[in-house]
Amino acid sequence: MAKLIIVSNRLPVKLQEKDGELTYKASEGGLATGLGSIYKKKDNLWIGWPGLVVDDPDKQSKIVEDLKDENMHPVFLTESEIKEFYEGFSNETLWPTFHYFSQYAIYDQDLWETYVEVNQKYCDEIVRQAGPDDTIWVHDYQLLLLPSMLREKLPDSTIGFFQHIPFPSYEVFRLLPWRKQILEGMLGADLVGFHTYDDMRHFLSSVNRITGYGSMHGWIYTNTRSLLVDSFPMGIDYEKYARTAELEEVKKRERIYRNHISSEKIIISIDRLDYSKGIPQRLMAFDLFLEKYPEFHEKVTLVVQVVPSRDTVDQYKELKEEIEELVGRINGKYSTMNWNPLQYFYRSYPLETISAFYRMADIALVTPMRDGMNLVCKEYVASRYEQKGVLILSEMAGASKELSDALLINPNDINQIVEALHRAVTMPEEEQKVHMTSMQDTLKRYNIHHWVTMFMDRLSYVKIKQLSLA
Ligand code: G6P
Repeated sequence: MAKLIIVSNRLPVKLQEKDGELTYKASEGGLATGLGSIYKKKDNLWIGWPGLVVDDPDKQSKIVEDLKDENMHPVFLTESEIKEFYEGFSNETLWPTFHYFSQYAIYDQDLWETYVEVNQKYCDEIVRQAGPDDTIWVHDYQLLLLPSMLREKLPDSTIGFFQHIPFPSYEVFRLLPWRKQILEGMLGADLVGFHTYDDMRHFLSSVNRITGYGSMHGWIYTNTRSLLVDSFPMGIDYEKYARTAELEEVKKRERIYRNHISSEKIIISIDRLDYSKGIPQRLMAFDLFLEKYPEFHEKVTLVVQVVPSRDTVDQYKELKEEIEELVGRINGKYSTMNWNPLQYFYRSYPLETISAFYRMADIALVTPMRDGMNLVCKEYVASRYEQKGVLILSEMAGASKELSDALLINPNDINQIVEALHRAVTMPEEEQKVHMTSMQDTLKRYNIHHWVTMFMDRLSYVKIKQLSLA
């Protein structure tokens, strides 16, 4: 029986070791929830890195056995592979380039070579697990070479690829010394998916300029085969967020937090630590808002949660320092005995706490410089139980294409963010409800299950169409 194999750099669990004891912590991530009901079915499988370096072969065998029961299979990465493949090429070359931060990108042949080797390692592991007719769905920028590597070993398999981060314009993509190999890697798939139409357009134009292959209505014809490129905006598990926001436990937490914050209005800001999220720019905009509208002193609090991420990479370490300096400076400038304008948390929280944050926030401030999609803004909308609340959202997030009822801002335009904040804190409830209801309707319909179905259906369609084109 043909099965579905999902492949991503990380597995949907995180392995932890404490006093020699192994524990597995399930991921709350969007992809893990969305594909949860699929990979656990029958013989389906999820292949990826378990999130911890394990060199001992006995321990590795134990982990393979433990994960087998959960339809998962680990790819073990060594310390140096983590440094060169994950921190290095993935997060210091591809991530900055694809997010239009090419000034942060490093171009290093050794890192590239490790990236190729690790993609090959994933390929070999998949080939050991896969049958010739299986469907393989590869995810994200860490594994761009995998589709072609798999195609070579399993020529008849069905291969889907989805990129969760932006695909930059040709002018930026072409800066990469390995641009041709990267595209050729992706072209091994039958279906290549992006969050937005613009990402798809950028990809097609890079393919055309770099490899010479043309396209028609998203179909690319290489010398040997055809594949489709399309956009699939990823949704969230809407019901999960809506349901969690109604839990007694969450309401209780909200009351406790609210009691500790004296101001009338609360703004929430939640992100992984990342320069693409525009956190310092957001803090500076809040500073300017307080300077320009002193009547809101003691009336508005910005709760900033930053989830630790990639903090072994220099740019991330520096960003953390910059954020903490700004938080200190702004609080130092405006705090009174009864009020701190910023409440800052550098840690991750369980879903119930995040949900309580979303419940208590009158405004969500989501202002990335660049973001493939951004799920935080969608989670906020889904958690607004009485249809009140205002979303301020960056035009540079993929989600802005669907959420046109948000207050859309250009994250480089600090004055526009200040005015959006003013509009948000003064927006009448009636107006809030009109926008929130409309955004909720969209997100309810285009949820994560819809995204999975759309992608899988399109992949089957491509296989049928390829036969008629052959
Ligand atoms: C983004 C990427 C994912 C990645 C996640 C967390 O959402 O698209 O591929 O897994 O960030 O980053 P990390 O480096 O911790 O895996």
